Amino acid sequence: MIAGDGIGTDVTAEAVKVLDAAAERWDLPLELVHFPWSADHYLETGVSLPDGALEDLTENFSAVFVGAFGDPRVPDMKHAADILLGMRFKLDLYINFRPIRLYDQRLCPLRNKTVDDIDFVVFRENTEGAYVGAGGNLKKGTPDEVAIQEEIYTFKGVERIIRAAFEYAVSHDKTKVCMADKSNVMRYGHDLWQRCFAAVAAEYPQIEASHLFVDALTMQMVRKPEIFEVIVTTNMFGDIVTDLGAALQGGLGVAASANLHPGRLSLFEPVHGSAPKYTGSGKANPMGALLSVALLLENLGHETAAMAVEDAVKMALRDGVTTFDLGGRHTTSEVGDFVASSVAGQPVGAA
Ligand code: NAD
Ligand code: IPM
Ligand code: MN
Repeated sequence: MIAGDGIGTDVTAEAVKVLDAAAERWDLPLELVHFPWSADHYLETGVSLPDGALEDLTENFSAVFVGAFGDPRVPDMKHAADILLGMRFKLDLYINFRPIRLYDQRLCPLRNKTVDDIDFVVFRENTEGAYVGAGGNLKKGTPDEVAIQEEIYTFKGVERIIRAAFEYAVSHDKTKVCMADKSNVMRYGHDLWQRCFAAVAAEYPQIEASHLFVDALTMQMVRKPEIFEVIVTTNMFGDIVTDLGAALQGGLGVAASANLHPGRLSLFEPVHGSAPKYTGSGKANPMGALLSVALLLENLGHETAAMAVEDAVKMALRDGVTTFDLGGRHTTSEVGDFVASSVAGQPVGAA
């Protein structure tokens, strides 16, 4: 468990309650280890991600759960780059899996759309693109400054995320995969995406493969979200469109994600950031974190427990046990307690 910064600490406390409840009910051999890696820790010690941390995680852990990073005292996000992007890149977690699911009709911001219309997944590439940190400055701080920020794509990196999207479609009875890029402008990197997509799609004739430029994708996500089943896109576009997707589900407070490399240690985290202004206020919605716990349990093969967590979140939504972002009057820990009790099999009353 790496709670991180801001509301990362608030929502992770609820994730712990729910994991404990699931472990108790289904007798799962759960051992939680908390790591203090955060802005506080970085400012106190100068250490962001300690030496040997990734080796320790890989050798001794089954999964990693992360709250959020981001603190105004670290404006360059150095600690987050080292810890979060460090884990995504160095553990080679090439799939950032972000489900966009409307769990309750009342959360839908779109007119005339239902829970059946908003139900798709985004496969965000997670180890390349604009996130590699390649580039530099010349004459920094002068009127002649030049800033270069490069996107890097590799055949291997693009091919494997596209293949992961098709494999998911096949194994989850989906019929469509849509790839989004900006290959009309990015004539090198995104042209590679085009060619990889065509090559991989040809191997899956039973799956309908389509393409949208990312600008058109954002429009269709709002106009006709029902046309999507599986979307695959670049690291940066995936970051952007999944915040839009979160809005379709009811907001950042409910969006969950998994950073995966099949067969290896994986990392689970809510999509939202550290929302510093809500730290410790009881206003943070823990549902994105709790649905990420469900993804974690599912990934470790505990499907029944995963479904129980998801169902408990749905029940909280149905009963109005929600934080203020969803129009509710409950605190972070009240929502977590409700979900944990339900997962534990205890009767939960409508509040
Ligand atoms: P944010 O996700 O922290 O918050 C944006 C807004 O969304 C908040 O002001 C709030 O209104 C709402 N919100 C987000 N999560 C919520 C929750 N659980 N409950 C209720 N409302 C919620 O994004 P930001 O303000 O752009 O960024 C704040 C900091 O977080 C920055 O430092 C940013 O870099 C960082 N960040 C980190 C992650 C991550 O760790 N994965 C993700 C996004 C942003
Ligand atoms: C996310 C966040 C991160 C990203 C930031 C905090 C580096 O926005 O997980 O969506 O851009 O990937
Ligand atoms: Mn983001």
